Amino acid sequence: MSLFITFEGGEGSGKSTQTRVLHQRLSSKGIPVLLTYEPGGTPLGQQIRRWLKGTGDIDPQAELLLFTASRAQLVAAVIRPSLKNGTVVICDRFYHSTIAYQGYGRGFSLELIQATNNFATGGLKPDLIVLLDLPMEYRLSRKTPGDRFEREETAFHQRVRNGYLKMANEDPERWLLIDGSLRKKEIERIIWERIEQLLTSGGFCSV
Ligand SMILES: Nc1ncnc2c1ncn2[C@@H]1O[C@H](COP(=O)(O)OP(=O)(O)OP(=O)(O)O)[C@@H](O)[C@H]1O
Ligand SMILES: [Mg+2]
Repeated sequence: MSLFITFEGGEGSGKSTQTRVLHQRLSSKGIPVLLTYEPGGTPLGQQIRRWLKGTGDIDPQAELLLFTASRAQLVAAVIRPSLKNGTVVICDRFYHSTIAYQGYGRGFSLELIQATNNFATGGLKPDLIVLLDLPMEYRLSRKTPGDRFEREETAFHQRVRNGYLKMANEDPERWLLIDGSLRKKEIERIIWERIEQLLTSGGFCSV
């Protein structure tokens, strides 16, 4: 059995907070679990992350390909091998971020994004995507410094948010949509409720 869970949402929506809590909770129950993140999660991905987090100009085409390259390496070197040996994998952002940011945000065609995502993942899909949806008015108050997307205008973030909501509403079985403005403990509770269901129903095999 393997289980692949990804976390999505805008900057400061609480992804890293909640992935850490979930990781801790699963490990404390003796469940083999790995927490990783995008971009990054491998030595190559770390280099790419540094470029993407830097202040240098990156052309949108190059940006898309850098995220894709980091993802391809992460899937091949970390995610697939871990799922194969029965580890629960939690990933802080995955390919839905590219659909939201480079597709809905930057305006690349969704067909192109789907093709590059498929190329990077070899078709691997999460069993569950947790979307922490933060209303626009909370965004600035939770701002985390240093992200290239923070330089983007409000309209960009609104498109990203709407893109995420569209994906979640179209596939409610796979997506868990949570109001990110709820208290941390409440969000933890909602996530755990769904994870427990998945663990008890068993039989997941993402690979
Ligand atoms: N439910 C919550 N209520 C209030 N504050 C929160 C909540 N969840 C997280 N925070 C705070 O908001 C800030 C951003 O949270 P966090 O780093 O988890 O977000 P993130 O989605 O990982 O952001 P990024 O996309 O920039 O990595 C942190 O200071 C965190 O403590
Ligand atoms: Mg984070």
